[in-house]
Amino acid sequence: MSDASAPANTSNTITVIPGDGVGPEVTSAVLRILDAAGAGLAYDMQEAGIAAIQPHGSPLPDETLESIDANRVALKGPLATPAGSGFRSVNVAIRKHFDLFANVRPVRTIVPGGRYEEIDLVLIRENTEGLYVGIEHFIGMEGDPKAAAESVMITTRYGSERVVRFAFEYARTHGRRKVTLAHKANILKHTQGLFLEVGKRLATEYAGRVGFEDRIIDATAMYLVLDPYRFDVLVMENMFGDILSDLMAGLVGGLGFAPAGNMGRSHAVFEAVHGSAPDIAGEGVANPTGLLLSACLLLDHMGRDEEAARIRQAVETVVVAGIARTRDMGGTDGTDAFADAVIRAMA
Ligand code: NAI
Repeated sequence: MSDASAPANTSNTITVIPGDGVGPEVTSAVLRILDAAGAGLAYDMQEAGIAAIQPHGSPLPDETLESIDANRVALKGPLATPAGSGFRSVNVAIRKHFDLFANVRPVRTIVPGGRYEEIDLVLIRENTEGLYVGIEHFIGMEGDPKAAAESVMITTRYGSERVVRFAFEYARTHGRRKVTLAHKANILKHTQGLFLEVGKRLATEYAGRVGFEDRIIDATAMYLVLDPYRFDVLVMENMFGDILSDLMAGLVGGLGFAPAGNMGRSHAVFEAVHGSAPDIAGEGVANPTGLLLSACLLLDHMGRDEEAARIRQAVETVVVAGIARTRDMGGTDGTDAFADAVIRAMA
C-alpha cells in the first residue's frame, strides 16, 4: 500500500494499541505471529479507549499520540465508543489528528465454500469528512429540549480530490482495472454532487489507464450482493464507506476477516474492521485474522512484502485445509490455538 500516502517508517518500531474488548486477545496473538514470521519489529505498547481512562484519565492519552507521531506507523486494536452519549469516538479522533484521509479496506475470499467464491475487492473510504465531522446539536421546541436534532455533512473539494486520487493511484499501482465511485448525488446535490464532480474530472486524467464508473450508493449495495464481480476498487464518502465495508466483509465470511489501513500523508494506522466484540471479550474465542491481515497491510506499507506474503500464505493454508478454525469460521479453536496453527504453518 506504499503509494500516494504515508512514507514508510524507516525504523523497526511501531506503536501498538491493544485496545478494548477482544483487542488485547487478538493483539497478543498477532504479535506472536509477526515475531514468528521474522518481521523483526519492535513494539511501543500504548493505551487508548476505555482501557486508557483509568490509568491516564483520558481515552486518548497524549503519550499515545506522541508515540504514533514518532513512529509514524501503528497497529491498533478496536476501541469501544459509547453510543448516544459519553466520549466521542477515539478512532475518529486518531484519524483526524493524523489526517488519515483514506481508509483502505481490501476484501478477499479466504474460506472457500461460502456464498461467494474468489471475491477480490478494495473499498476506499473517505475518512475525515462527511457526517463524521461530528457537528450536530439538538433543537429545543415547546419545552422539549430534544424536539429535533441536526447534523452537518461536510464535503470539500480538497478532501474529495485527495481520496478519489488515492483510489485511482491505488488502482494504478496495484494493477486494478476500474474505480467505481458510489454516491447519492441525486438527492444530496451539493455534498455528494461535489464528490461526484471531482471524481468525474479526475477520471479523465486516468482515462486509458484505469476505468471509471459512478453508481448510486443504494444500487451499489444491491449489486454488491447480486454480482460483486462487476466491481474492483470502490471509493465513497465516510458513512457510505463505513456501511458498505461491513456489507463487503459479509461477502467473505464476516468481520473477523476484514483488515483496514488508515492512510495519511505522513502517518498510517492499521486496524481490523471489526469492533471490540463485547459479547465474546475475554473468552479467548475471537478470530485474530482481521487484525493479522491488517498487520500484513502494515508490513506491505513498510516494504516487508516477503513477511507479509508468508503470513497470508500460512493463514490461507490453515483456514482452507481446516487445520484450525475459530468459532465464527464454523470451527471450535480459540484465538491462541488458531495463532499457534498459523505459526506452525510458517515453519
Ligand atoms: P463488533 O464488530 O464489535 O461486533 C459485531 C459482531 O461481530 C459481534 O457478534 C462480535 O462478536 C462479532 N465479532 C467482531 N469481531 C470478531 C472477531 N474478531 N472474531 C469473531 N467475532 C467477531 O461491533 P459492535 O458490537 O457494533 O461494536 C462494539 C464496540 O466496538 C462499540 O463500542 C463500537 O463503537 C466499537 N467499534 C470499534 C471499531 C474500531 O475500533 N475500529 C470499529 C467498529 C466498532
